[in-house]
Formats: sequence, structure tokens, C-alpha cells
Amino acid sequence: MSETAGILAALFFIIANAYYPAKIIAKRYRPWPKEMSHFFKQYLKAHVTLNLLAFLLVIIHGHYSEAEEQNILLYISMALTLWLTIAGILMYYQSPLGMDKRRLRLIHTQQVVFALWLFFIIAGHSLG
Ligand code: HEM
Repeated sequence: MSETAGILAALFFIIANAYYPAKIIAKRYRPWPKEMSHFFKQYLKAHVTLNLLAFLLVIIHGHYSEAEEQNILLYISMALTLWLTIAGILMYYQSPLGMDKRRLRLIHTQQVVFALWLFFIIAGHSLG
């Protein structure tokens, strides 16, 4: 159960977040034709849906994992996943708390947070 959920979550996270490098590369070729803008609009929907599904799977994955496989690095990666997911939800569905959208964007799309998120996932799993 834990292993299947973990593999599926990783797969969803990879597909969902390839959005980021894809957009960095595509930005070099601006102005975009209509098809490209349409593609990224659709890809953003996949980014949102797959990240939300992956988040649920990751909770199952962690919950059913062996206690001795858990470590502080994986707890930090879980906290970062929660942080990124909440900021993403607030940004995508327009913050009901009246928070500044530009600030939310900054929180959610920080390269450093993204790099740390990857680091803690990889380092935490190599410890186990
Ligand atoms: C762990 C989960 C997630 C990670 C690691 C992540 C990562 C990222 C990154 C790195 C970007 C920057 C892309 C760019 O600069 O164009 C981004 C953009 C974005 N993400 Fe996420 N995200 C996650 C989950 C979510 C969720 C759950 C939502 C919404 C429910 C969401 C909504 C958005 C939106 C609206 C953008 C801006 C897209 C744009 O303007 O091009 N993200 N995300």
C-alpha cells in the first residue's frame, strides 16, 4: 500500500512539475504562437490536478510506511509539500483571505523552495 502510493505520487509529481523546466525553456522562444499559450494553459490544469492527487497519495504513503523508515528529512519534505500545495491552491483559486496574489506567486514559485523540496525528498529517501 505504502509503496504503490509512493511510486504513483512520484510519477504524478514528475509529470506535474516538469511544467516548471518546460516553461523556462519555452520562455526563450517568446512571443509564443496561440498553440503554445493554449498548451501551457492546459498543462497548468495538469500541474494543479496531478499535484493535488500526488499530495493525497503522499499522505497515504507516509501513513502506511514503516516507522523505522521515517526520518526528520522526510518530515521536512512533507512540510514543504504541504506549504507548496497550500500556496498553490491559494494562488490558483484566488486567495479567499485577500492575500496579495503577487506575494503568493513569489512564495509558490521560489526556485530555492523548489530545490530544497527536491533535496529533502531525495536525501530523506537515501537515509532510509
Ligand atoms: C508540491 C507541489 C507543487 C510544486 C512542487 C509546485 C511547483 C511550482 C513551480 C516551481 C511553479 C513555477 C512555474 C513557473 O515559474 O512558471 C509553479 C507554478 C504554479 N503552480 Fe505549482 N506546485 C505544486 C503544487 C501546486 C498546486 C497544488 C497548485 C494549485 C492547486 C499549484 C498552482 C500553481 C500555479 C497557479 C502556478 C503559476 C503558473 C503560471 O503562472 O505559469 N501548484 N508551481
